[in-house]
Amino acid sequence: MIYHQAIVVGGGMAGLRVAIEAGAQVDTALISLVHPVRSHSGAAQGGINASLGNAEGGKDDNWESHAFDTVKGSDYLADQNAAEILTKEAPERIFELEHWGVPFSRTEEGKIAQRPFGGAGFPRTCYAADKTGHVIMHTLFEQAVKRKIKVCPEWMALALVVEDGACRGVIALELITGRVEAFKAEAVILATGGAGRIYGHSTNGMIVTGSGMAIAYQAGMPLKDMEFIQFHPTSLYGTNILVTEGARGEGGYIVNNRGERFMQRYAPQAMELAPRDIVARAIQTEIEEGRGFEDAYVHLDLRHLGRERILERLPGIRDICMDFAGVDPIEKPIPIQPGQHYTMGGIDCNEAGETELRGLFAAGECACVTAHGANRLGGNSLLETVVFGKRAGEKAAQFVRGKEGAQAGDGAVLEALEKVRGKIAGLMEAEGGENHSAIRAQMKEMMTEKVGIFREEKAMTQALGRIKELQERYRRAQLTYKGNKFNLDLARCLELEGMLEVAEVIVSGAIARRESRGSHYRLDYRERDDENWLKHTIARRTPQGPQLSYRDVVITRWKPEARKY
Ligand code: FUM
Repeated sequence: MIYHQAIVVGGGMAGLRVAIEAGAQVDTALISLVHPVRSHSGAAQGGINASLGNAEGGKDDNWESHAFDTVKGSDYLADQNAAEILTKEAPERIFELEHWGVPFSRTEEGKIAQRPFGGAGFPRTCYAADKTGHVIMHTLFEQAVKRKIKVCPEWMALALVVEDGACRGVIALELITGRVEAFKAEAVILATGGAGRIYGHSTNGMIVTGSGMAIAYQAGMPLKDMEFIQFHPTSLYGTNILVTEGARGEGGYIVNNRGERFMQRYAPQAMELAPRDIVARAIQTEIEEGRGFEDAYVHLDLRHLGRERILERLPGIRDICMDFAGVDPIEKPIPIQPGQHYTMGGIDCNEAGETELRGLFAAGECACVTAHGANRLGGNSLLETVVFGKRAGEKAAQFVRGKEGAQAGDGAVLEALEKVRGKIAGLMEAEGGENHSAIRAQMKEMMTEKVGIFREEKAMTQALGRIKELQERYRRAQLTYKGNKFNLDLARCLELEGMLEVAEVIVSGAIARRESRGSHYRLDYRERDDENWLKHTIARRTPQGPQLSYRDVVITRWKPEARKY
């Protein structure tokens, strides 16, 4: 058994920011499925929001405008107190990153450069060309190393230990050896990212499987607002690699097969810089109504920006387009289609990352504070990781310090360890069962098709039935590789169980919510219904499946009104 006062699960931007904060005060270790700098946060491109007012046209920006844009963008489902914290603390967190060494792009005067992003009243997205996630990740990792945070890379968290209403630790698999070990801790902070890979056509890395959400849910924690899945309007046709919103922020056009900038019809003022739910629906509509190319994509045209600007601001996008689609955006338009991108919902927690379970905290995309409501604005997710990551780290450390000398025994931890070891042994021995990769493939295809951008009751009810069938088949899953070292067959099989449960929560919440709001668009209930549905979905695990209840949205100063862009 390994002991640290605080264990952070997840080495992405939120996990690192949590660890930096907690590690300054208590003995902290971080376990991560991959080496931290290979986490999916590194794929973030376009930037991070803060009302610095540095850009031309942005001088009048302030945190209140940022908060309002966030709330309006969320289709009024964001808790407004959370949106206020997110936006008020943003400038301080950006300057902290700058002082730690993040090489932000600069204005002529040497200030942090900012570009326009969707749904934003001012250009407030701070960027480092189109590699913002990559540079922030490296800077945060340096800061973690500097603070001597113990990092355990390539460990997969499999279960939480719960005893007497408190979290006592986490059970994890060391991929390199196959060893299953218990990490006992006073505080566990989950920062495992979203659940994107439950879908096909996702911009997310293969490791983004909702694992932290699943183990929290399996430990009895509620998941909140899981039906709200974001589809990024511009993912590269073929691979669904992200093509940053920054491309539109720099002035890119989206064009159909008639050469029309069709956003004119959907969001005449904001055009390509409307919020993501609106742009993604517009693109999907064009494709489905026959105005796309090959019935599958439309064009993102950057040619008018010119070679120099593309090379300076979007060099990574150019490389991706050339390498993965054989298209040089300086010469030709980019084929794009919407792709699953972000999970607005997550583990129910407050602004300090506290969950219902004492000693369990959550931060980043796996958490639902909830500042993003039904639709997150681009540039607010990196911000969330540093604002709420810092807060969760602080709170976890405070919790640990308050408990000094009151360490629990090892009994529950050892029991949980044996349970997980037994489960793995069972999988290793199973013969003649189901191929789990086939189950996963069917889940992804079905989620994309039936619980995607456009939803309706019949298809979603079928999806729920299919998930139950897939869960039944999963009980007979078997492995093809039974070795100990780097057994990714085992890892993929283990994570699939949680993916199916999270998928079930997404579909159940989506069927129940009979309205359209943000990313959740129902063809059978096309209007937002504040009277009945201005509320959060809370899903609790029961043996029969998720049990749903609802909680009021926190409104502080902005009364819900129609969203127009
Ligand atoms: O388009 C992008 O660069 C993505 C940003 C985000 O999801 O916040």
